[in-house]
Amino acid sequence: MAFFKFSFLVSFLFLIQICVGQSINSYQFGLKDYYHTYFPIGVAVSPISLEDVAESELILREFGSLTAENVMKPALIHPSEGVYNWAPADKITAFAKANQLKIRGHTLCWHSQTPKWFFEESEGRPASRELALSRLKDHIQNVMGRYKGEIYAWDVVNEAISDDAGLFLRESDWYKIIGPDYIEKAFEYAHEADPDALLFYNDYNVVDKAKGDKIFKLIESLKAKGVPIHGIGLQAHWSIFHPNVSDLERTIVKFSKLGITIQITELDISVYDGEQSDANLIKAPIQFTKEQEKKQIHQYKMIFEVFRKNKDSITGVTFWNISDRHSWLDNYPIRDRKNFPLLFDQNLKRKKAYWEIANW
Ligand code: GLA
Repeated sequence: MAFFKFSFLVSFLFLIQICVGQSINSYQFGLKDYYHTYFPIGVAVSPISLEDVAESELILREFGSLTAENVMKPALIHPSEGVYNWAPADKITAFAKANQLKIRGHTLCWHSQTPKWFFEESEGRPASRELALSRLKDHIQNVMGRYKGEIYAWDVVNEAISDDAGLFLRESDWYKIIGPDYIEKAFEYAHEADPDALLFYNDYNVVDKAKGDKIFKLIESLKAKGVPIHGIGLQAHWSIFHPNVSDLERTIVKFSKLGITIQITELDISVYDGEQSDANLIKAPIQFTKEQEKKQIHQYKMIFEVFRKNKDSITGVTFWNISDRHSWLDNYPIRDRKNFPLLFDQNLKRKKAYWEIANW
């Protein structure tokens, strides 16, 4: 028994358990199983991936939860007033339902990928506070209402905190027209729409001390006012250079003290540094180097160690995209610069980093 690694033992017992109901040959073990006693492991998808045989097989083998990468964002699901484009989002919810996957909803109130019409009364004239609030309510309640009972958690407000040192809230159209209380209103409308859904505030750079402190203050004040907020989403667009273990641990411990749940909502580990914009890099033939691979393995291993240690505070970990075949980071912050941020390579094969987090 001594040579069994703990994860192997857990997996073995779980395999026995599922084999009672299923043939051993047809069940494929994946991340969802390695982490089954920890937290659900999810992935952000587009409807097209669900139609691709190889990608959909990978999704079903590895993941237990889905997030729509884009198709539930306001610009895509509600392109003009009263006009909803449900079909792409419905494909994702139908696939999840057919395969018993959980679904996180993303996202209801955001400064980006939100059409102008939300903020205009007529061409060029800004909407009044009342009009913007009624549109926000309408949007949230129609979208959540359609998927009530199917989507267990929603990113209600995304990225409301400013990155500027001197500013607290981002001066978005929502903020400028409605004022700072647009945030609590969004949560109230969401709670009315589905009282059983878990409601999240979601943001990036939460592990950075200054921004994390502002986000903490926001959630603390919402809680003090009795606003129905249940969780913080750490987007976790990280890199092989950051965060370090102490920043990550400090952040998780700190937010868990607020009495809310924590989910990692958009995880990827870029092989480049932050907002790197070195033109030479774009021209160079871009491959996944041994050095990047080594650092990425180390980073994935470290963050999952922290996640497992804090499993009582963390209720979900979602990767942003499926494999290195396609990532939003291939075009951000630099267009056409290939990145390799995920656990599966361009042929959908498990990378070495995968085994570091599956077999700890
Ligand atoms: C943010 C958003 C996501 C997505 C990513 C990039 O993190 O929350 O919806 O747009 O940027 O794909």
